[in-house]
Amino acid sequence: MTAIFDCVIRNARLATASDTIDCDIGIRQGRIAMLGQGLAQGTREIDAAGRVVTPGGIDGHCHLDQPMEPPVRMADNFDTGTRAAACGGTTTVIPFAAQVKGNSLQAAVDDYHRRADGVAHVDYAFHLIVSDPTDTVLNSELPSLIRNGYTSFKLYMTYDDLKLDDGQILDVLALARREGAMAMIHAENADCIAWLTKKLEAAGQTAPRFHSHSRPMLVEREATHRAISLAELIDVPILIVHVSGREAVEQIRWARGRGMKIFAETCPQYLFLTAADLGIDDSYLGAKCVCSPPPRDASNQQVIWDGLSDGLFTVLSSDHAPFNYDDPAGKKPGGKEVPFAYIPNGIPGIETRMPLLYSEGVLGGRLTLNRFVELTATQPAKAYGLHPRKGTVAIGSDADLVIWDHREVTLTNSMLHHAVDYTPYEGMTLKAWPGLTMLRGQVVWDGTTFTPPSGGGQFLRCGMPSLLPARRSV
Ligand code: URP
Ligand code: ZN
Ligand code: ZN
Repeated sequence: MTAIFDCVIRNARLATASDTIDCDIGIRQGRIAMLGQGLAQGTREIDAAGRVVTPGGIDGHCHLDQPMEPPVRMADNFDTGTRAAACGGTTTVIPFAAQVKGNSLQAAVDDYHRRADGVAHVDYAFHLIVSDPTDTVLNSELPSLIRNGYTSFKLYMTYDDLKLDDGQILDVLALARREGAMAMIHAENADCIAWLTKKLEAAGQTAPRFHSHSRPMLVEREATHRAISLAELIDVPILIVHVSGREAVEQIRWARGRGMKIFAETCPQYLFLTAADLGIDDSYLGAKCVCSPPPRDASNQQVIWDGLSDGLFTVLSSDHAPFNYDDPAGKKPGGKEVPFAYIPNGIPGIETRMPLLYSEGVLGGRLTLNRFVELTATQPAKAYGLHPRKGTVAIGSDADLVIWDHREVTLTNSMLHHAVDYTPYEGMTLKAWPGLTMLRGQVVWDGTTFTPPSGGGQFLRCGMPSLLPARRSV
């Protein structure tokens, strides 16, 4: 007699965003088929007695194999980046197909598919980055991409090659409102950064640590407030990405108090790093932690923890931006220790995101287990149109699961699976690590070994974000 389940995970303590229940999980054809006590024998049996099971993580903000200006190159492609994701409990990633100014958005999407197809080991969708909102992009390309399953895009208020001015942002937000798409905004004031950078360079203050001096909190606060005001003008929800501390949080709370739908993302670097990690002297090692916005200080870390526990934040993502430290294509462009303004921005974190938050958030007593699931899986799935196929454990959902091992782990780069030559969290002691990651019913990580899923990671066309109102005419 054939078993009715391909796999049964037995005696699980299963947590979703709303409930924690003790049950067996029956899996058939890659999907959750049944939850209950004493389920019939499966072809494969996995005993989770005494262990917590959560939905596989959705990393709603990471950068993989994103084309860069030479000589800089990302260390992770879809192979290494998604392998690391799987080993860290993430089963869906959403990196960015970035438009190059002067080129079409569709060209960026086509190129990005070529980079991912047949190489990814977890499921993936694409956000878009809109850097050149021409009439063609606004009237034709973007609406058609949104209707084809690319339903979220990022807009930058800084970086010369990506930034939009306020009028361009309004144009794109009006389109987001019309189409019901999710607009994500990188909020930092470009002119203030350029002005401060010039002053610092003139004073010879070019070591990595001065990166944080060039991007103080007010630069982020002002842009966050401006992004909120632009969204208010159009009457459209937005999602502010990588929020780093108090003053940006205050703007979001203020907007929410006025009844606005402002969603917010933060990342582990704003919980576990401070500006001191960019250096207390002029050592170049601080380049490892150069990211934007920069990490702040301990009191700002607490503000971010508070926002995670009290509902201010919608999602927690890695913002994995993988550059080697000791590499002419990485943090030392052309092989040189360069002034901070030329250090590629971003830090690795795709594999450490889930364990850091589970260990220090859930087991550290700062977050409930259900809130952990909401931040790392369910809300990203809803924000980006993947729910309920992804981001939860419900009948019919993909069987994307993590079984957690509660054990002491000392984090070292040598245990990670990314292609980056460092982790900013080297030496940190964690209380847990994923003991098993399952993608659509296949075990891709068993706590020691990575096994690629047969058929590979699948591309996901996103539906309309379910946190947003439906399409509305302006
Ligand atoms: O420094 C960062 N965050 N680099 C990645 C690109 C971005 O703006 O998210
Ligand atoms: Zn950004
Ligand atoms: Zn990013």
